[in-house]
Amino acid sequence: MLGKDAVAGGLVDALRRLEYRGYDSAGVATVENGRLDRRRAEGKLRNLEMRLASHPLKGRTGLGHTRWATHGKPVEHNAHPHMNGRVAVVHNGIIENFQELKEELTAKGHRFETETDTETVLHLVSDYLDQGLVPVEAAKRALRRLRGAFALGLIFAGEDNLMIGARQGPPLAIGHGNGEMYLGSDAIALAPFTDTITYLEDGDCAVLSREGAQFFRSDGSSVERVPIKSVASSLLVDKGNFRHFMAKEIHEQPEVIGHTLANYVDFANRTVTLPNLGIDPAKLDSIAMSACGTAYFAGLVGKYWLERYARLPVEIDIASEFRYREPPLKSGGLAVFISQSGETADTLATLRYCKAQAQRIAAIVNVRTSTIAREADAVLPTLAGPEIGVASTKAFTSQLAVLACLAIGLGRARGTLSAAQEAELVKALGELPRHIATVLRGEARYETLAHQLAKAQDVLYLGRGASYPLALEGALKLKEISYIHAEGYAAGELKHGPIALIDEKVPVIVVAPEDELFEKTVSNLQEVAARGGRIILLSSAAPDRAGCPLDMDLQAPPVPAAHAFTNPLLYAVPVQLIAYHTAVFMGTDVDQPRNLAKSVTVE
Ligand code: AGP
Repeated sequence: MLGKDAVAGGLVDALRRLEYRGYDSAGVATVENGRLDRRRAEGKLRNLEMRLASHPLKGRTGLGHTRWATHGKPVEHNAHPHMNGRVAVVHNGIIENFQELKEELTAKGHRFETETDTETVLHLVSDYLDQGLVPVEAAKRALRRLRGAFALGLIFAGEDNLMIGARQGPPLAIGHGNGEMYLGSDAIALAPFTDTITYLEDGDCAVLSREGAQFFRSDGSSVERVPIKSVASSLLVDKGNFRHFMAKEIHEQPEVIGHTLANYVDFANRTVTLPNLGIDPAKLDSIAMSACGTAYFAGLVGKYWLERYARLPVEIDIASEFRYREPPLKSGGLAVFISQSGETADTLATLRYCKAQAQRIAAIVNVRTSTIAREADAVLPTLAGPEIGVASTKAFTSQLAVLACLAIGLGRARGTLSAAQEAELVKALGELPRHIATVLRGEARYETLAHQLAKAQDVLYLGRGASYPLALEGALKLKEISYIHAEGYAAGELKHGPIALIDEKVPVIVVAPEDELFEKTVSNLQEVAARGGRIILLSSAAPDRAGCPLDMDLQAPPVPAAHAFTNPLLYAVPVQLIAYHTAVFMGTDVDQPRNLAKSVTVE
């Protein structure tokens, strides 16, 4: 930040908006009377604020950083900014060749104090300064030596009106103020200061002064980057009257699913309109699809819908596998990427692989200005609003809403879905917000159930058909916020091994809407009950339809009976509530669980 006045307070405000991305430690560094100085603290941002209150920084040029450790323990010693007497640096991402650079620089007499890859950048830039290069040239030369995925910010001793940013992968944005300039890893961080934003493209280096910014490519050539008006909310997203962001976001789902659907659905005429995907759906033989984590489970549900309603085979895999499997793809095909943040490194890399395979790229993202959105040929936005809780909830159901519209739209375009069927499915989608609101009204029952679940060491989730990805998602939700080990299985798979896990200590949560697979799933329930397993039935069916005795203090309220097509969105809410209330009862950090980050912008 290049400010008119002291910047430390503004940097902390900006960091608070990024804390959801990672929060092992935080720090700020400023240039004051030509000298670099810094404050850092382990853990949450409030620890840094206390440090600054007792030891203020007054410099008008500064950098800030909140860290999610990739290299080096999450302790103050490894916290950014990394700094010596000449340069301070903050870094997001991974420098892949840092060891060889470290050896080269150590041989030249540089002394390393930390085990971080970031410190290599510090010494590399300093080394070029030692060779007599001016700061901008030293930074450019250093950037050419770095390999990996990173976003960097640099300030220099003696330079009160200079800041350098570089992007090689993770996002970086410049904010244009009135006599001030800002550099941040996304527009949300800059929203308190400005809505005029310039995004760096991959390979850009930006040289900032209070008068403006110049952009360069790695070969030294200068390039133009045009500022845009950002839509990032200027309001600090707050929890309202909820205890956690996750609770607020679970309860926002009727609203945001409605917003998202309205972007594609004409509820009056019961039709779906898709953005131009740039392909002729009738000529598609299949669809490739890739994502990570919860977004991947949304894609798995999408596979069932696209194969059933659009008769399109879907080749889907988690991005970290897809990109290295390098599946052969027929050129001119459609590849769909799903990402809340739009910055997940594995998903972005797979997008680029598919682009190189001449696929048309469609992105289902929650951040319209994200890298994945900007590199896609067509964007199908989720309108979930900023999702702050690290565990994805409203983004997941919004992704499902878009995938449902995609299946209907492609089915109509390919003639595999009639207008009457389209109207039936659209009507079902229109009833969803109401059904979800009904589930939310039964929250107290899920809370009671969660208190029983909290005693478990291991939990199994079962589902069939489009409920199978819901079993996977329910297990992920529970383990990532309550730290209880949980696994999701296809219900029909239990007898092929996992049933050995069943005994009276293992709760089995069964996602079993009353669809055409319900009776099949009931037989799996009986296999579990016969071995003393404790069954939690998530269903619109009355407990007595389970065909086996159920532990009544473990039962959830009945889920509203809805159209089979919409059950994956509807049953997402019970598994979210179960995970949330179990975690709250366990006392874990629900919005910022240990070891996690909201957006994994490194491999
Ligand atoms: C969701 O609860 C997880 N925190 C995580 O799996 C997440 O879905 C995954 O990292 C993908 O993130 P993205 O949607 O931003 O790409």
